Amino acid sequence: MFTVTLQSSDRHFPVAPGESVLEAAQRAGIALPYSCRAGVCGSCKASLLSGHCVYPRNPPVALSGTAPSQHAILLCQAVPTEDLLIEAREVTSVEDIIRRQLDVVVTRKWKLAPDVVGLQLQPAAGKARLQWLPGQYLDVLLDDGRRRPFSIANHPQADGAIELHVRHVAGGGFTSWVNDGLQLGDALRIEGPLGTFVPREDSERPMIFMAGGTGFAPVKAIVEHFIALGTRRPMHVYWGARSAADLYLREMAEAWSRQAHDLRFQAVLSDPEQAAGSGLRMGLVHEAVLEDQPDLSGLDVYMSGPPAMIDAGRKLFIDAGLSESRLYYDSFDYAPDVLAQILSGRAGIAGL
Ligand SMILES: Cc1cc2nc3c(=O)[nH]c(=O)nc-3n(C[C@H](O)[C@H](O)[C@H](O)COP(=O)(O)OP(=O)(O)OC[C@H]3O[C@@H](n4cnc5c(N)ncnc54)[C@H](O)[C@@H]3O)c2cc1C
Ligand code: FES
Repeated sequence: MFTVTLQSSDRHFPVAPGESVLEAAQRAGIALPYSCRAGVCGSCKASLLSGHCVYPRNPPVALSGTAPSQHAILLCQAVPTEDLLIEAREVTSVEDIIRRQLDVVVTRKWKLAPDVVGLQLQPAAGKARLQWLPGQYLDVLLDDGRRRPFSIANHPQADGAIELHVRHVAGGGFTSWVNDGLQLGDALRIEGPLGTFVPREDSERPMIFMAGGTGFAPVKAIVEHFIALGTRRPMHVYWGARSAADLYLREMAEAWSRQAHDLRFQAVLSDPEQAAGSGLRMGLVHEAVLEDQPDLSGLDVYMSGPPAMIDAGRKLFIDAGLSESRLYYDSFDYAPDVLAQILSGRAGIAGL
C-alpha cells in the first residue's frame, strides 16, 4: 500500500496494489479531474513531484509530446510503485455528490438531428433521483458489464428527469440500439454522476464555451447554470457541426443572448457546401475561437466534443496563452473498454 500526497492541499490517500491514483482518490472521496478514464484525453494530467509509477493497463497516450522534464503523469492510468507527491487540480465541488447506480425508465425519445436522438430518463418507481452538477456525465450499464458514457444535457430537475443527446455512431452497438430499438418505457441501469467538467465559480474571468456536435449537451447544462445564476461574466458560446441540421438546438442557443447579461452565440459549419448559403460561419470551430480571440490569456475555456476538436483546443489554446489550469473539457471518446482494446492492438479502428 502506497500513499499519494497532493501538494497544494496536503491531503493524502492510500493506494491499494494495482489501483490507479484516480481510483484511489475516488475511493477516498477526493475529486481529481478526469474524462475518458482510458489514458487518451489528457484531462487527468498532473505533475509528479516525487515518487515513481507505472502504466500496466493502457499506455499513457495523452502524454505523448510532453517533455520528460515536465514529469507529467496520467492519474487515470498511473499505478504507484512507491509513495507519490503530486501537484493536481482538485475539483472539490463534485466531492459532496454521491455516485450511485440507479434504474431509470425512458419517458421520452425524440429526433434532434439526422443522427442524434434525445432521451429523457426518469428514476424507476420508488427510486430517489440522481444528483449531479451541470456538465457531468453518466454511464449506461450494459448487461455484459460494459459501460457507455453520455453527458447529461440538463441541470437537476425536481422530478428527477435526465436529458441525454445520443449520436448514432456507425457500427456502434449501443447507439444503434438507442436509435433503432429503444422504446418508451424501456428500463436502463445507469451510474453517475461522473466527470469533473463542471462550472468553476472561483473566477471572474470571461468564459468561452466550445462544443462540437453532441458536445453541446454538457455545454448547454453549464451555460444554463451560469444564466440561472445571473452571472455578469461575459460568455461566448461556439457550436461547431458539419451542417445546419446538426445544430439541433440552435434557436434555443440563440435565445440565450436575450436571457444573459453578456452572451454571444456563434454557429460554425465545417462543410463548405453546407455553409454556403446558410448564412452561418464556415470553418473549424476551434479556428473560429482563435480568430475572434487570438489572446486567450485572460479567459476560462470550457470545451466538449469529438477527440480531434479537443486535441486541437488543448494544443492551440495553450499556445494562444490560455493557462492549462483554466481549460476544462470532456472528450467524447470511445467507451473505456473499446479504447482499452484499441490500445492493446486487439481492435483495429481507424482514427487512433
Ligand atoms: C465522458 C464522455 C461523455 C460522452 N458524452 C456523449 C454524449 O453526450 N453524446 C454522445 O452522442 N456521445 C457521447 N460520448 C461518446 C459515446 O460514449 C460513444 O459514442 C459511445 O460509447 C458509443 O457506443 P456504441 O456502443 O454505440 O459504440 P461501440 O460499440 O462502443 O463502438 C463500435 C464502433 O463505433 C465507433 N465508435 C465508438 N465510439 C465512437 C465515438 N465516440 N466516436 C466515433 N466513433 C465511435 C468505433 O468505430 C467502434 O469500433 C461520450 C464519451 C465520453 C468519454
Ligand atoms: S487520460 Fe485520464 S481521464 Fe482521459
